[in-house]
Amino acid sequence: MQVPERIPEHVAVIMDGNGRWAKARGLPRTAGHKAGVNAVRETVRNASELGIRYLTLYAFSSENWSRPPAEVSDLMGLLKLFIRRDLADLHKSNVEIRIIGERSRLKPDILKLLQNAEDLTRGNSAMTLVIAFNYGSRDEIIRAAARIASDVSEGRLSPEDIGAAAFAARLDTAGMPDPDLVIRTSGEQRLSNFLLWQAAYAEFVFMPCLWPDFGRDQLIEALSVFGSRERRFGGVEARVS
Ligand code: FPP
Repeated sequence: MQVPERIPEHVAVIMDGNGRWAKARGLPRTAGHKAGVNAVRETVRNASELGIRYLTLYAFSSENWSRPPAEVSDLMGLLKLFIRRDLADLHKSNVEIRIIGERSRLKPDILKLLQNAEDLTRGNSAMTLVIAFNYGSRDEIIRAAARIASDVSEGRLSPEDIGAAAFAARLDTAGMPDPDLVIRTSGEQRLSNFLLWQAAYAEFVFMPCLWPDFGRDQLIEALSVFGSRERRFGGVEARVS
């Protein structure tokens, strides 16, 4: 498949369809999530090779806690395993890791792993891999609003300085560019509480394939669709992103 000329700076992915992938093979849902981790590994490598600077992956949403406890624990276990097994390689490949989402209620072992991953890779410059973990966009926006309120009440911010930049600087994604492209696999066409603020001008590409089947060809296909879209950011003329 031919690599498109225009590569988006930031690609965000809703990795959907692990359960259906497993069901179609008569396997337990865990097997689907395991295959999903392989697709994560491959996508990180492909994205970096293709020159994508930021890759955000929706690994666990704040709503995923409502899944059966065994599945929640499987997902936690897979994330821990991924960090333990892949961190050294990611660091060697000059990938920076950032985590977005609510941290205060995470178990200490997982919190420590995530923090170590961020600390070890801080400043790496080939690509930033953003893992959305215990992430919900409304929750993130509420936490940012609460920070604005406390900064105002403690005199660090005056109400007239509250604007989009001041707000964005208090989101978990502070300092990152907004996603140019949001991909969702498995045919569902929803945002599911993902990057509601940040995706204001993103292009959306919905793909029928299930997440474990998402490989280099599927990524290039999504990038090609992105390349064919005209982005106007609310204006009348196309702008190159
Ligand atoms: C959606 O499939 C996928 C998830 C809820 C979790 C995605 C997690 C991973 C791929 C593994 C861990 C992540 C990292 C970064 C190592 P689903 O279970 O909702 O599928 P279904 O809709 O077919 O049931």
